[in-house]
Amino acid sequence: MVSNSIRFIFENKIKEIKNPDPNETILNHIRLELKKTGTKEGCAEGGCGACTVVVGELKKNKIIYKAINSCIAFTTSLEGKHLLVVEDLTQKNGSLHPVQSAMINFHGSQCGFCTPGFIMSLFSMYKNKTSYDKKTIEESISGNLCRCTGYRPIIDAAKSLKKNKPDQFKKNEKKTISLLKKIRPKNISINNKFKKYFAPKTIIELKKIIKKNQNAEFLSGGTDMSLIVTKQKKDIKNIIYLNSIDELNYIKEKVNYIEVGATTPLSKFELIIKKYYPDFDRILKRYGSVQIRNVATLAGNIATASPIGDSLPLLLSLDASISIESFNKKMIIPIKDFFIGYRKTKLRKGYFISSIKIPIFKKNIFKAYKISKRIDDDISSVCASFNLEIVNKKIKDIKIAYGGMAAIPKRAFYCEKMLLNSSFSEDTILKAQKSLEKDFQPIDDMRASKDYRVEIAKNLLTKCFVEIKKNKLIRLSY
Ligand code: FES
Ligand code: FES
Repeated sequence: MVSNSIRFIFENKIKEIKNPDPNETILNHIRLELKKTGTKEGCAEGGCGACTVVVGELKKNKIIYKAINSCIAFTTSLEGKHLLVVEDLTQKNGSLHPVQSAMINFHGSQCGFCTPGFIMSLFSMYKNKTSYDKKTIEESISGNLCRCTGYRPIIDAAKSLKKNKPDQFKKNEKKTISLLKKIRPKNISINNKFKKYFAPKTIIELKKIIKKNQNAEFLSGGTDMSLIVTKQKKDIKNIIYLNSIDELNYIKEKVNYIEVGATTPLSKFELIIKKYYPDFDRILKRYGSVQIRNVATLAGNIATASPIGDSLPLLLSLDASISIESFNKKMIIPIKDFFIGYRKTKLRKGYFISSIKIPIFKKNIFKAYKISKRIDDDISSVCASFNLEIVNKKIKDIKIAYGGMAAIPKRAFYCEKMLLNSSFSEDTILKAQKSLEKDFQPIDDMRASKDYRVEIAKNLLTKCFVEIKKNKLIRLSY
């Protein structure tokens, strides 16, 4: 069955939008159509959290609530979900949600512009977490910026929350579940003036659509692609939304590799990857806020091909491979060959990434570092990743990759060659540092100068060496 309308739950009712504009953001829909102005626009690029809303999804007869940035998600992505905005937290009789009361009691708001976003992030934490310790609280609000209250009163408010106190949504859960079940899954096809949007439910349907729409843009997460609309003020004329395809939302853990389906959100992936590569998880925590990681995907990060995409140096040093498919072909490309120029990849029109395979190096040491001006919610100046095996004090296997050092995320092949089969010693590392100058000639930009980048790249190699030698992490956080 194909439909040209989307349906979601809002204020305890099924809301239907016929033939929506595929480029309309959820934030604009909330403020301009639903006339709920509690949700704010700060940056319109997923960086400040003022626009945070919560969406509920039905999984195995339970509703899973997730905070997202409504400024960079399209209204069409609400299909089959429960939308909650800050106004929903206050009950009809005026009683406040425990999160709202806590913010008042602990003076968590001054000018109030950021407050709805903080409330929704803390509400998502309230619904999802089993304890509200400092780490959980800080992670939950890592995507929310406040410029006048400061964070201490907000953190105090969060600490005061009592777990297991059923709120109005818990009490109303059965009704919400039955409403969500009434929205039967269907393929969506929208043709709004000159803009088209497709959200197939299966890979078979997807391929039929690709065959007829070879020029369409694939959207998996969309936290980067949406900026074409919100920042460049352009239209995306032809979108194929992959996230409705459950077959692409999976993680397979095998003996020698992990396979990640294209629409698996980073928040799900990080729970698995941390068992194999704890530093991958540490980088993901700084890749973006909870709101971003609830939506963004590895496949999206790869296809975007930004030189400062934080997962990319890590996947390069782990020698990942990428499965791509068109309507009638499938192929596998090693990630080291995938990036061919600034934001250019081997992905041709009509091809989508279906999965990513990450080898498990059981004998190796894996380390990754991100250098940025802030710990949370910031873009890398340099990101580095090291994957090496040391046998009898000799480097038997080594893969090194950097982001922020070239037009593409890239392996440091000269440096690797210098280190391979050498002794694992300070002398070797000092020589290898020099070879990084052959691998990379970075540029100056607003994030860092080229000299700073080269210096940092060298220092991170040394840091990796020292951490391995001392067998301890030397980090400011985590
Ligand atoms: Fe800043 Fe959405 S408006 S994250
Ligand atoms: Fe003013 Fe946070 S209360 S920005």
